[in-house]
Amino acid sequence: MKTIKRTRVTELLKKDCSHLLEKEVNVKGWVRTRRGIKNVAFIALNDGSTIHNIQVVVDVEAFNNDDLLKKITTGACISVNGVLVESMGKGQSYEIQAKEIELYGEADPDKYPLQKKGHSFEFLREIAHLRPRTNTFGAIFRIRHTLSFAIHKYFNDNDFYYLHTPIITGSDCEGAGSMFRVTTLDFNNLPRKDDGNIDFSQDFFGKETNLTVSGQLEGELGALALSNIYTFGPTFRAENSNTARHLSEFWMIEPEMAFYDIHDNMDLAEDFLKYLVRYVMDNRMDDLEFLQKMYDKKLIERLNFILKNKFERLSYTEAIKILEASGRKFEFPVSWGVDLQSEHERYLVEQHFNKPVILTDYPKDIKAFYMKLNDDDKTVRALDVLFPKIGEIIGGSQREEDYAKLFKRIKEMNINPDDVWWYLETRKFGTAPHSGFGLGLERLMLFITGMGNIRDVIPFPRAPQNAEF
Ligand code: 4AD
Ligand code: MG
Repeated sequence: MKTIKRTRVTELLKKDCSHLLEKEVNVKGWVRTRRGIKNVAFIALNDGSTIHNIQVVVDVEAFNNDDLLKKITTGACISVNGVLVESMGKGQSYEIQAKEIELYGEADPDKYPLQKKGHSFEFLREIAHLRPRTNTFGAIFRIRHTLSFAIHKYFNDNDFYYLHTPIITGSDCEGAGSMFRVTTLDFNNLPRKDDGNIDFSQDFFGKETNLTVSGQLEGELGALALSNIYTFGPTFRAENSNTARHLSEFWMIEPEMAFYDIHDNMDLAEDFLKYLVRYVMDNRMDDLEFLQKMYDKKLIERLNFILKNKFERLSYTEAIKILEASGRKFEFPVSWGVDLQSEHERYLVEQHFNKPVILTDYPKDIKAFYMKLNDDDKTVRALDVLFPKIGEIIGGSQREEDYAKLFKRIKEMNINPDDVWWYLETRKFGTAPHSGFGLGLERLMLFITGMGNIRDVIPFPRAPQNAEF
């Protein structure tokens, strides 16, 4: 076969690729469908560069290679040389009249699981190695890429530095205690101390270590030197939550800013979220429109709803009053002091305010040790951003910068100060007011794509009893 430089499908379908018209081009990709009439075969080819397929037209008689054509079935991978021409068919601008075809890989129609008909998301999760080849997951993973790029772009354009925080840590940032242990000890022959407890001084790092639940504590160290930093990496939680909103491994974005109070922090969170939604709308409308057409007629309306509305800001205490006065019967009853469930969060966002909501000043007993204590001695300067359909999408706070108050809180919460001596030292040397938050990438992906299950917005989900691929 003649060597011609490959052109991606997305390029070939652009209105302005007329310079290639009537020229011979090469395209490579996976066959979505093949149909035929009389002596013509139509192959819909996709290379993942766009939701749209390019149509390859084969004159069967002129081609004179039935053996090859027989193997061009759904899922097969081929390389095509042919002439780019304007398409007669509606819905597509250009198509390729094939001259030469090379078959890279067959896909036996009796065995290849992704035949034309629609599959359930549950089934597709079982074949996560192949699901990126569906239209839906192609769209989702392109959106995920664009969103990740936009995150870096936003921070870079706003003078934040990307700080890499460790994946393996010896501390528990959120104090939830649900962490995955990292060890090289031999489980069949564990070293013991005199009191019978395991001797972690003999472990790889000479101490107990875990996969991080958050990069925040190290992020604060960065902010108290570089002013504005952000982290963007995988985080791990060993909670046994088998829900459509929880993963055991998820990606979190955590900006941390010196000299920001909680109001600056909320302004940033709102601006950041709106920027990201707008960026995906500006750059991935094809994919969004596909998802809207297939699954969720209100998708783009909901994205616009975020852009249009100023987020409603109120305190946890005010929110509890609204929930109590709502007359609603919630599965989890509400009263001051309880942690809010997504049913409460969604009531506030979808029923009461009908706009995104930022709740602040939560009871200290349901929040982590590092949050700045309010003068009432009961609440902390926490913030949660709540979105329609999702509930909590961001959690953050102003941080306690006062050494004595922070130390007292650490003792009250039974954290060993020796484990976080380095964190405490930032409050001894040149401490400063500062704030930050964490955005769950997959929660935002859920919102932007309209998918119902968080396992469908990450390529290879990790969840209880689930680490295949
Ligand atoms: O509210 P969280 O636990 O806050 C923190 O980890 C702070 N250290 C953040 C900070 O202030 N720098 O988690 C932050 C966000 C949540 O709002 C949610 O979007 C997401 O991370 N998240 C999860 N996403 C998927 N699966 C899970 N199990 C998640 N847990 C939290
Ligand atoms: Mg939270």
